[in-house]
Amino acid sequence: MTGPDDLLGLFPPGTAQDGDGMLRIGGCRLDDLAAAQGTPMLVVAEQAVRQRARDYREQLAARWPDSQVVFASKAFPCTAVQRLMVTEGMWLDVAGGGEIVTALAAGADPATLVLHGNAKTTEEIELAVRSGVGTVVVDNEDDIDRLDVVVPAGRVQGCLVRVIPGVQSSTYPAYATGHSGSKFGLSPAAARQAISRIEASARLRMDGLHTHVGSQILVADELAAAVAPLAALGDYPVYDLGGGLGCRYTYTDQPPSLGEYLDVLISAAREHLPSGARILIEPGRSVVAPNAVTVYRVTTVKPGATTFVAVDGGMGDNLEVALVGQRFEATIADRVGGGQPVTVVGRHCESGDVLSANVPLRDPRVGDLLVVPVTGAYCYTMSNNYNGARRIPVVLADDGDAKLVVRRERWDELLSRDL
Ligand code: LLP
Repeated sequence: MTGPDDLLGLFPPGTAQDGDGMLRIGGCRLDDLAAAQGTPMLVVAEQAVRQRARDYREQLAARWPDSQVVFASKAFPCTAVQRLMVTEGMWLDVAGGGEIVTALAAGADPATLVLHGNAKTTEEIELAVRSGVGTVVVDNEDDIDRLDVVVPAGRVQGCLVRVIPGVQSSTYPAYATGHSGSKFGLSPAAARQAISRIEASARLRMDGLHTHVGSQILVADELAAAVAPLAALGDYPVYDLGGGLGCRYTYTDQPPSLGEYLDVLISAAREHLPSGARILIEPGRSVVAPNAVTVYRVTTVKPGATTFVAVDGGMGDNLEVALVGQRFEATIADRVGGGQPVTVVGRHCESGDVLSANVPLRDPRVGDLLVVPVTGAYCYTMSNNYNGARRIPVVLADDGDAKLVVRRERWDELLSRDL
């Protein structure tokens, strides 16, 4: 189905509707969750996330046994979600010191952490080395300078070198990282230089290469195109092929299935990479995005040439619309499907604070719960305090049980750093 009739197809697997129409996510009625935690609120379908993590591991291992799935923590960087990934056997990609801190609190074995960053500070490299982070992805020569100073004598730090594959992708320009001219990683020529330096250092070990084409990529061939350029740099024990698999946010998005994506990626690996190498992949969005929703309360309905339905959140909890123009769908929690087109807007002082333009809602009224699906990736990540918004809580819903794993920020916390 490709239209609003398939609204529930955008919701986490296992989503159901009660007799009165109210949606249940992870077996929990959204009105019960809203009564307990208030709105806005992120609801994560725990089993759906776990199942997706298992699918990723099993489907990769079936195609390339010496492999590892590394969850890109940045897609949902709270300890509860990182812990969930750890318990499902994933390693964690951590971008910077803050994500090392939350990953360690989540119980991750430091040896399974992969540190990223195009601007790592000495403090972050010290934290990584002190914590025993297994892999540092070298993005520039200054990373090597810092590591050479920070890694103590007698210790050896595993490194990957991030290579710009020179791949144009059809995603939003802000999400593309594989093109020459990207701020992330090194051109193949510059990578050769970095590799020689790492190989010459007694404190560093050259484990292999990393690449990442971008995010929300809906064409599997674009993701696989990054493999061949790595092969030209020589044979190594490890290749980290990045993340980037896109998700279905709206009816017209047609992402490849996990199996289709891995078929194309791993056949490129079979063609170009040494058969004895270990392959890592680093998915973020495609593990979590479809498996969570945001629940808001309608605060006003303003009829006119465009009917504006305003809710109690917006850019403070979902920046993806304003940042890149990502489209989201929406529904009233107990009147799913049908209705007339309206524009759902947030509470922030920006005309760009639109959650969903021209979206059909059935008879929206003040006080209704409004639900936006596919908010599990990068929404929590980029939440902020614009207009004094308090960052929103996260609830894990599983088999009718709701567990609050991040509470709502309090008003007094908005004052807590002011001196
Ligand atoms: N590995 C690296 C090195 C990355 O930079 C990223 C995402 C990933 C893996 C995971 O990619 P994914 O599978 O999630 O596509 N702020 C943006 C998202 C930017 C993506 C950042 N890098 C947003 O608003 O959605």
